[in-house]
Amino acid sequence: MSGLPKTRIQFYDEHPLMADFFGEVLSGLQHQPRQIPPKFFYDERGSELFDAICRTEEYYPTRTEQQLLRTHAAEIADLIGKQCLLIEPGSGNSEKVRLLLDKLQPAAYLPMDISGDFLFQAAEQVANDYPWLAVHAACVDFTVPLNLPWCPANRRRLIFFPGSSIGNFDPGQAEEFLRNLHGVAGDQGSLLIGVDLKKDPSILNAAYNDSDGVTAAFNLNLLHRIQRELDAELDPALFRHHAFYNEHQGRVEMHLVSQQAQTLKIGEQRFHFDKGESIHTESSYKYTVEEFVELAGRAGFTSRQVWTDPDNLFSLHYFDVGD
Ligand code: AVI
Repeated sequence: MSGLPKTRIQFYDEHPLMADFFGEVLSGLQHQPRQIPPKFFYDERGSELFDAICRTEEYYPTRTEQQLLRTHAAEIADLIGKQCLLIEPGSGNSEKVRLLLDKLQPAAYLPMDISGDFLFQAAEQVANDYPWLAVHAACVDFTVPLNLPWCPANRRRLIFFPGSSIGNFDPGQAEEFLRNLHGVAGDQGSLLIGVDLKKDPSILNAAYNDSDGVTAAFNLNLLHRIQRELDAELDPALFRHHAFYNEHQGRVEMHLVSQQAQTLKIGEQRFHFDKGESIHTESSYKYTVEEFVELAGRAGFTSRQVWTDPDNLFSLHYFDVGD
């Protein structure tokens, strides 16, 4: 006996390549307008700040979606039936899936994430808290076409993609990603996806400019990360968080705006910023229910059910793969 606790989960590791932070920051800053992909927000500090955003008064998506999941878990279970394979790409801390498990009684849960350690811990906690559930975790990059490492053919598959993470893809990329999920769902599968809705811009502007400054810290943390990890010569205090709803594009945009003329140095490269020049760090697209049904339809999905909250802030869609 080693005395070590036994793990109850199956863990598959495809050893996905972590993105090239240095290369993507350099090419993003050379681009006009300047941009850095939002995936780089999530170092350890960034992940903590994102969790804190979800608890702010102004950021309604998390608590609204959680309430929708709680309220409609039994209906979701009726639609998919018991003993499905529950697949969650980008499962993170596997927090929201817990709202479904008791009602759904899946045969197995397959969380997938690019961050191996984090995935392993979260999957183990689910397995400990739901001893009847088989957990098969896969460390993969879920944004590229997925191969399921373990997937018995005779079970219906339900793909769970909460959080309106789909909003962080441009609509063209979102369609491609959904097409990829359509392939993963198989012949009899379904998709349960959370999508943030278009609404009064004042609500959106407040959600991305919370009064405690948590979203600002989350955005600025990207510069701290660049400074620390890429040994860059830059002062994060010379940038300001700027987030606003772009009605024409149907998206919230987050930017880091230079407060003065300045030059950043990263590696051997120098980047001159004029006062007021910005780096676009995130787009968060918002959809009407109809727009999203149409987008998912182009990827091959058929809408079966949509649930929204009484204030029409957030939507939870259930799609089937077939007609
Ligand atoms: C992860 N994603 C869906 C969040 C969003 O609302 O676009 C990220 C976020 N950015 C600022 N606040 C939250």
